[in-house]
Amino acid sequence: MDKDPNDTTPQGPLETRVSRRKVLIAGTVSAAAGALPAVATLAGEATAPTEARAVVMSKVNLEVNGAARSLDLDTRTTLLDALREHLRLTGTKKGCDHGQCGACTVIVDGRRINSCLTLAVMHEGSRVTTIEGLGTPERLHPMQAAFVKHDGYQCGYCTPGQICSAVAMLDEVKAGIPSHVTADLTSRSKLSAVEVRERMSGNICRCGAYSNILDAIDEVAGGLA
Ligand code: FES
Ligand code: FES
Repeated sequence: MDKDPNDTTPQGPLETRVSRRKVLIAGTVSAAAGALPAVATLAGEATAPTEARAVVMSKVNLEVNGAARSLDLDTRTTLLDALREHLRLTGTKKGCDHGQCGACTVIVDGRRINSCLTLAVMHEGSRVTTIEGLGTPERLHPMQAAFVKHDGYQCGYCTPGQICSAVAMLDEVKAGIPSHVTADLTSRSKLSAVEVRERMSGNICRCGAYSNILDAIDEVAGGLA
């Protein structure tokens, strides 16, 4: 069709616009129709293995904060999720869920670990201590009391992990376990602030309460060098 010489719109006369729209719609429909079988095929390929994969359950026995607990868990359940979602011990926090922040730190058989990085089934028969097991609001653990006294927190999200980590860290020092910055491996020199900062470096505090956390640990440790 010839363009109306009086039509100054950028789209051109109405008939031209309709026919362009029809062409576009027809093109879209045919393109979609052509694409559908491919999408279905891709979806089928993607879902088939997932559907075929069976959930494997396992019984896990733990001693949590002094009490025997028995759980039926999907074997993929992390210790963190077992504590929070199955035992409702929500004092342990999920920060990054990737082993980078330390918010999920608990003490397992005397060692501090990131509970987001380990599967619950790997700890059959283990002793797990969470922040709820360290002390109670009426009878705070000395480290909890020191955190309160020295204002070692702001939002408090990292605090359970910081406290569990600090308690186990002082036990590591007592046991003579060196850190990356321990200069002398042959003698047990007095614990220094540099040592504590290094040993606590896996526990991130987004509120930046580090200096107060150090003061709290200093008090419990009986004074840092
Ligand atoms: Fe486990 Fe961050 S939640 S290290
Ligand atoms: Fe808020 Fe540490 S007190 S992240």
